[in-house]
Amino acid sequence: MNKREFLGGAGAMAALFSSGAWARWSALEPQQLARAEDFWSQLRGRYRLREDYINLENGYYSMMAEPVLEAFVERVREVNFEAARFFRTRAEAERLETRTALARVAGCDVSELALTRNTTESLDLVIAGHDWKPGDEAVMCDQDYGTMLAMFEQVARRWGAVCKRVALPLHPASDDELVELYAAAIGERTRLVMLSHMVNITGQILPVEKLCAMARSKGVAVMVDGAHAFAQLEFVIPKLGCDFYGASLHKWLGSPLGAGLLWVRKPRIATLWPLLAPPPGRAQDDITRLNHIGTHPAHTDLALRAAIAFHEEIGVARKEARLRHLQRYWTDKVRGRAKIVLNTPSAPERSCAIANVGVEGLAPAELARRLFEEHRIYTVAIDTPSVRGVRITPQLFTSEAELDALVRALLALAA
Ligand SMILES: Cc1ncc(COP(=O)(O)O)c(C=O)c1O
Repeated sequence: MNKREFLGGAGAMAALFSSGAWARWSALEPQQLARAEDFWSQLRGRYRLREDYINLENGYYSMMAEPVLEAFVERVREVNFEAARFFRTRAEAERLETRTALARVAGCDVSELALTRNTTESLDLVIAGHDWKPGDEAVMCDQDYGTMLAMFEQVARRWGAVCKRVALPLHPASDDELVELYAAAIGERTRLVMLSHMVNITGQILPVEKLCAMARSKGVAVMVDGAHAFAQLEFVIPKLGCDFYGASLHKWLGSPLGAGLLWVRKPRIATLWPLLAPPPGRAQDDITRLNHIGTHPAHTDLALRAAIAFHEEIGVARKEARLRHLQRYWTDKVRGRAKIVLNTPSAPERSCAIANVGVEGLAPAELARRLFEEHRIYTVAIDTPSVRGVRITPQLFTSEAELDALVRALLALAA
């Protein structure tokens, strides 16, 4: 680890928790640490937060911790200073080093991992890069991300493919119910299934491994939208059993804006058409053939290493435990109360940081407006045929006291 990554990782923790405190905290089990408000309030000091409102909309993108931001600014200066020479002499090797660090987080081989700008680019590349024939079918669900659904509709119009949408239940009774739902939609002509690892509007986590196993048994490829799962949940991509995985790193990895990943199972790499043509000479099974975008903000790729170091030092198991604790902390206090509607499954393993709540008699936009104007709590309204409420997304810097304020506000609005 060089000095810059150190700034984002071990340096940050050592500076924050001096004289062995970090050693003591990190010896706790993640579930115990998740409840140690003292620890998290000190970590909160690593973020520059607004004091005039409580931000519970950290699902759009999440700010960098201050040490990562410092490293990013330093990298902007560095690339600007070296200019063309940076690109001609170092850019390629630096990018490989970043991909290698990211592959470690993803638990995959670097030859299967490409850096992209976000989930949109990663998944659109897979959807549009597939060799669709008229009558080929794709399976997805009504709660998948809007622009991914739109890209499927576009390839349907362009190539005569057919999109089949299943209606995802908000409160599934079992994994089997979900497996059967998707299995029933897969037919002879199905070529690709899209799965949201974590549904962005409700926070529901799908049993991706079981769903992939079912699709594989039918010989159908699976693409997973990991925008919210990557760096929030503890898992390794290749073990999920999917063929393609896309994620944004500016959500839960806390990277600079405009960073994403695309993982493609090795034999599938050669089958995809890139969105933008690569330089000549790249081998068909070279994943870097897929993500050529020309001259680009290389400092973002470089500063990713500081975000990775920060993430690894906290540890994804601790992050997952704390984020689930925060969500349960407030949902447990409002579940079952008059007029409160939770649109997120109650089984702990089916959600983590994100949950969605509605108040009967209040339109989602009105609820979001009143939360902000009357209670200084920032959220986002979700108003779709199946989900009506506001999405609540805490982050590592969110305190229990802030969630107490949310509970008070929701109960007051429901009264
Ligand atoms: C489930 C899901 N997929 C894809 C995206 C797109 O992410 P990005 O805008 O970073 O490409 C989002 C963004 O919120 C999302 O929640």
